[in-house]
Amino acid sequence: MGGAKNLARSPLSREEMIAVVTQGKGGMPGFRAALSPDEIGQVVEHVRSLHVDH
Ligand code: HEM
Repeated sequence: MGGAKNLARSPLSREEMIAVVTQGKGGMPGFRAALSPDEIGQVVEHVRSLHVDH
């Protein structure tokens, strides 16, 4: 998937995910122009709800 990560297995904290989605990182674009801070928080909560351990 073009270098994108399996987010269900990401070890990042909520705060680190918010930073990645806001600012972007490596090959990933930032979403601060497209999403409000509240919307980014909601997307990160959704991603975290998909998390599996192992
Ligand atoms: C709103 C939609 C998106 C969300 C919530 C999201 C979330 C994330 C998160 C949390 C990470 C860090 C994962 C980790 O290090 O464990 C990540 C990494 C990454 N994402 Fe996204 N992403 C989104 C859209 C995209 C898009 C559209 C692209 C490609 C065009 C993309 C490409 C990448 C890449 C390449 C990385 C690895 C960056 C690096 O480690 O240098 N993502 N994403």
